[in-house]
Amino acid sequence: MKILLCFGTRPEAIKMAPVILALKNNHLAYEVCVTGQHREMLDQVLEFFEIKPDFDLKIMQEEQSLNSLSALILEKTDVILQEAKPDLILVQGDTTTAFIAALTAFNRGIKIGHIEAGLRTQNLHSPFPEEANRQLISRIADFHFVPTSSNQDKLLREGISKDKIFITGNTVIDALRMAEKKLNSGYENEELKGLKGLLNKNKKVLLVTGHRRESFGGGLEEVCKGLRKFAERKDVQIIFPVHLNPQVRRKVFEILGKHPNIYLIEPVSYPSFLWLMMQASAIISDSGGVQEEAPSLKKPVLVTRKFTEREEAVIAGFSTVVGTSGEMLIKKLEEVLENPPDFTGVRNPYGDGEASQKIVEIIKRENA
Ligand code: UD1
Ligand code: UDP
Repeated sequence: MKILLCFGTRPEAIKMAPVILALKNNHLAYEVCVTGQHREMLDQVLEFFEIKPDFDLKIMQEEQSLNSLSALILEKTDVILQEAKPDLILVQGDTTTAFIAALTAFNRGIKIGHIEAGLRTQNLHSPFPEEANRQLISRIADFHFVPTSSNQDKLLREGISKDKIFITGNTVIDALRMAEKKLNSGYENEELKGLKGLLNKNKKVLLVTGHRRESFGGGLEEVCKGLRKFAERKDVQIIFPVHLNPQVRRKVFEILGKHPNIYLIEPVSYPSFLWLMMQASAIISDSGGVQEEAPSLKKPVLVTRKFTEREEAVIAGFSTVVGTSGEMLIKKLEEVLENPPDFTGVRNPYGDGEASQKIVEIIKRENA
């Protein structure tokens, strides 16, 4: 059996890194194909986890459209499938790379394993286009590796057979454990040193990320305006590694630039981001991965989206969906800073760091 892992963006790479390690440790035959939907942000992850792709499709274009991106992935992945001849392709999550790579494999009669399956908002416009991507992958996948039992229920309701769904936890927790172990054993680099020197030890840290396409019409602007107001408080500092999407950067730098309490920095490598999360009193983010990681670090996340597919973290109390109103964000931030939540003893609903090993054992057992 030969496996091809196919991914293209930062979060997919982070979540695939421990799967690659588990495949290696279990002596399975595999190759890695990166589409390069992201470039710099993907390379940061490949470098930290020491992943050397067998194929790199190098497709990223400045301000790429969803359709040109899809066309390039379809055409170029097809060539790789003919060369690599895998029996099984593994895709992760809900990006355009994940869906189009799965579709390419489907068209060639190659089995598909979907990691992080079963997440839903049931709103095709939020997140866009990710909700459609993940639903479409579910229609054509052969093996559905779901993080939680609630994800399993969603797939069962869509008529997917129970014997093709496997509850594994989310592999992001495995990645987090790998990075945490390195940090605890003294891992340091120039970037991390720089961050440690940058932050004021006497002020509370608010860590921010944002990148969702459905927020470009105004949500991102509202959130930034709320943050700008909040930055007037003398007891806080805002640190915001700004996503490389030019649509994000234009708004963020326009509204949050040149403020003494706001640090707008380039996207940081995974261990540095983990360190920043550890310092934070609150995290303000529309990221999927961050909602899953924060519970392991016992940090509250204010989710700057109207809907989340990660409702397990809301139920456990880690995440609060604040929408994209600046006023609501300020209100919730004040509440969190005044009454810091105590998450002692509350488990991360996304798993324990064993998801990748479980996935690989299932692949072996099912002779996928
Ligand atoms: C993509 C995914 C989204 C995922 C996010 C993670 C799709 C449609 N979107 O969104 O699901 O949550 O990644 O971050 O699959 N750019 C760079 N360098 C990089 C990365 C991006 O310059 O390393 C710029 C390019 O101009 C690129 C643009 O950002 O065209 C948008 O990248 P794209 O992957 O299309 O969308 P994201 O918003 O990053
Ligand atoms: N992350 C990172 N550096 C950063 C910001 C985020 O390594 O500067 C990590 C974060 O820990 C998480 C992932 O990137 O694992 C989230 O990526 P993103 O928000 O781009 O995508 P999403 O998870 O929303 O699909």
